[in-house]
Amino acid sequence: MIIRIRKKSDIPSSEITPEDVYINRRKFLGATAGIGAAAFMARGAAAAEARVPGSRPGIAGPAAGRQDLEPSSWEDITSYNNFYEFGLDKKDPARNAHTLVTRPWTIEVDGLCAKPGEYQLEDFVKPSTMEDRVYRFRCVEAWSMVVPWRGFPLADAIARAEPDPSAKYVAFETLWDPEQMPERRWKPRIGWPYREGLRLDEAMHPLTLMVTGLYGKTLPNQNGAPLRLIVPWKYGFKSIKSIVRMTFTEDEPPTTWATQSPGEYGFYSNVNPNVDHPRWSQATERVIDTSRLFTRRIDTLFLNGYADEVAHLYAGMDLKKFF
Ligand code: MTE
Repeated sequence: MIIRIRKKSDIPSSEITPEDVYINRRKFLGATAGIGAAAFMARGAAAAEARVPGSRPGIAGPAAGRQDLEPSSWEDITSYNNFYEFGLDKKDPARNAHTLVTRPWTIEVDGLCAKPGEYQLEDFVKPSTMEDRVYRFRCVEAWSMVVPWRGFPLADAIARAEPDPSAKYVAFETLWDPEQMPERRWKPRIGWPYREGLRLDEAMHPLTLMVTGLYGKTLPNQNGAPLRLIVPWKYGFKSIKSIVRMTFTEDEPPTTWATQSPGEYGFYSNVNPNVDHPRWSQATERVIDTSRLFTRRIDTLFLNGYADEVAHLYAGMDLKKFF
């Protein structure tokens, strides 16, 4: 089944610069980096050429003002990461995650469902339901990117497991193998494995993706190969990487960051410029783009710009309390 949703906050895949053109453009930009304004103008022209003519639709509503955001580069997406199992520095995952063995890969489905079981990755992922989606990605640390993911709706995997009516949540676990994931300098009081969870209706929402690829290619290890979650209206830490378990529960499952620091990270973790992190503002975000000479900050949008699609999930909830 292919779910096609064209919502105003989607950036269609037709708008992604083809990878070869993109890489050439990056090389060009690298070569002209010292020329400043001329390079930026050339960049705009190259980007315009690379787009399919007439493919740029109006993005209205809460996403307006974001039409100028291009997909982030492959280099930025794959070299500026949080994957603490491989180190604390943003560059550590790209340096260290080559030790992660992603085949064979087993996903255990258990808890309150009619069809628990162990799936090999190839059986869990159905190529027929794969699609490319460009989503904004907002990290809780107030930086952001725009990422062309390849994945399939998590709802498909959930439907296959046939959750019991009593199941209200789904929990996820990352592989924890100290042989493959040396903690190195990262020695927190955090109990591995990394854990995350969603309410079942959030998990079943068609925007929620199980991701296996990036820019049409296999997901690099540092981005959570071979299988990671993407929930585009939530802070990036909800998007758990290298998933090995999916468990249906009646009660809200414990999650890594909310367990570690409950005053700072809640279960919901919806992107919300009106609810600051206790140590910093969430009103704006830094756009990660290493090709630019100057840092660019933009306003953060409620639910990361996906409010039209998902705000109904939180109707009547006090989002300052359920942050
Ligand atoms: N998943 C695991 N297993 N371990 C992590 O440290 N970091 C989270 C999330 N998923 C993390 C994780 C955080 S804080 C962010 S911002 C995103 O992964 C980063 O995803 P990216 O590397 O694709 O940008």
